[in-house]
Amino acid sequence: MARTIELGESITVGALAEQLALPVSQLISELFKNGVMATVNEKIDFDTAQILLSELDLDVELAKKEHVSAPRVKKEASAKAVARPPVVAMMGHVDHGKTSLLDAIRGAEVASGEAGGITQHLSAYQIEHDGRKLTFLDTPGHEAFAALREHGARLTDVAVIVIAADDGIKPQTLEAIRFARSAGVKIIVAANKMDKPAADINRLKQQLAENQLMPEDFGGDTIVMPVSAKTKEGINELLDIILLATDVEELRADVDVPASGLVIEAHMEQGRGPVAVALVEQGTLQAGQFVVIGSTYAKVRNLETTTGEPIKTAGPSTPVIITGLKKLPDFGDEFGVVANEKVARDQAAASAQKNRSESSSAGTTSSELLRIISRSDRLSEFNILVKADVQGSLTSVIDSLKTLDSDEVAVRVVSSGVGIISENDVHTAAASGAVIYGFHVELPTNIKRLALRDQVSIRLYRVIYELIEDVKNELESRLAPEVVEQITGELVVKGIFKTAKNEVICGGEVKKGRLVVPALARLYRGKELQADNLQITNLKRGPQDVKEVLVGEMCGLSFTSDKRVDVQEGDRIELFTRETKSRTL
Ligand code: GTP
Ligand code: MG
Repeated sequence: MARTIELGESITVGALAEQLALPVSQLISELFKNGVMATVNEKIDFDTAQILLSELDLDVELAKKEHVSAPRVKKEASAKAVARPPVVAMMGHVDHGKTSLLDAIRGAEVASGEAGGITQHLSAYQIEHDGRKLTFLDTPGHEAFAALREHGARLTDVAVIVIAADDGIKPQTLEAIRFARSAGVKIIVAANKMDKPAADINRLKQQLAENQLMPEDFGGDTIVMPVSAKTKEGINELLDIILLATDVEELRADVDVPASGLVIEAHMEQGRGPVAVALVEQGTLQAGQFVVIGSTYAKVRNLETTTGEPIKTAGPSTPVIITGLKKLPDFGDEFGVVANEKVARDQAAASAQKNRSESSSAGTTSSELLRIISRSDRLSEFNILVKADVQGSLTSVIDSLKTLDSDEVAVRVVSSGVGIISENDVHTAAASGAVIYGFHVELPTNIKRLALRDQVSIRLYRVIYELIEDVKNELESRLAPEVVEQITGELVVKGIFKTAKNEVICGGEVKKGRLVVPALARLYRGKELQADNLQITNLKRGPQDVKEVLVGEMCGLSFTSDKRVDVQEGDRIELFTRETKSRTL
């Protein structure tokens, strides 16, 4: 019976050797045989481990430890807990008006200032309606940002699925519904763009019904609110409904416990260093406290709302900006207040240690290893280095680029990070022949100069699909061109006039199509191929040189070849042209 070993997303070579009770050196040399230089601490992913095991011919089976992402267990509230504002995520397909609706609710103008008119990270705002607070999360609708949408759904109490009434349900609408469902949050549908003549709420309700969201007036329990971010029609009613729907849930949280919550987004800011946007889930966060966030920590110097106003304390459901971090946290990291700096430092270090042993980012991925094992010489890699403004975007960019890989061309991310493009990035790129892609990041003049000197190409983008398109073009230019052959015609040989070492002149009748010059040809006797890649150099009709001879005509034909070709009467010469065409992914 095979022994079963459980693995997470990835494992270090050392840890795998331990699990298999094999010397580390044996694993390293097996990897080496396959062309992978790995150290004890190199991480390999699950599939790679699987391939490695089959190569080693061990009687061991691997089982994947299930990575459970949702639903997150919401914190239990005690009897002393007080009511807290609902957290509401705006979700839905790209351009259906999530940001515009939120703008209308807040009286702000975010949507019009966005690069490419699309949202590319999570953001959070708190607003007041009827004297009550609500916290809103804006999520991106573009397909590249699934991870952010999933994270958004997990942070919330209610998901407002925004659907443009003139467009209806689209792929990311369905995905948003799925995320909201699996996160176990209540769904309210906002039928947006009702001001447009093409808006058709009945069609929309029909589509909802087809997707297990039966509208109330069809006898179901899905609330569908007609709204327009443009005219602000229905906005107040939408807010009323959200409050009503969350009232049922009696959302409560403790305020006099150490504050804790989740990171919504993190980025680097000039002059301020790592900055995290976090959502307080329980307790009351205060300036001056120590917080541990994943494997980093901070003394909260200043506390700010997400629109930059300083605040002294932040209670449950409040989105806040936390500065004073030692390094950048990941989005989705949990944070918690601890007693003092020492505890903070120790906890952060312990979490970093844990991450190192079980992180999901593997150094070698199975696709890489498979390619190496199958020794696909055809694979051409495009090395890139990616820098982005925020962690969430970086993840999204890299995930999207990975999907472009094919058997022949692949993106290799030699390095990536959050923050402005640095001198070090240019050195890394120069050493690995990589192109630097900057997403929403600055390029300081001195770095630009350095890159120019070192001939490193730096490409800055503010819209994700433009960046992806550029990488796609690069990959396509690395695809070997497609060779297209087209048979133009066929001649049956009736006489041979001259045979030299590598030239033949013969005559015959065109049986099919037409003969042209220049062209390539194959010589057949019966069905047997006698010679290939002959080069037609001349065609004659009577004594005259011509470019073309048509079916039924007699002609003379000259061709050259690399070796002597024996031509006999009755042989067929098939003419063809060969073109190369660039390919697309
Ligand atoms: P992503 O964040 O990229 O997923 O898009 P979004 O859902 O946030 O859409 P956004 O708010 O950026 O709006 C997309 C476009 O629709 C913009 O040009 C808006 O002006 C327009 N728009 C949004 N709401 C309405 C509306 O109620 N009526 C009309 N006529 N146009 C709207
Ligand atoms: Mg948006």
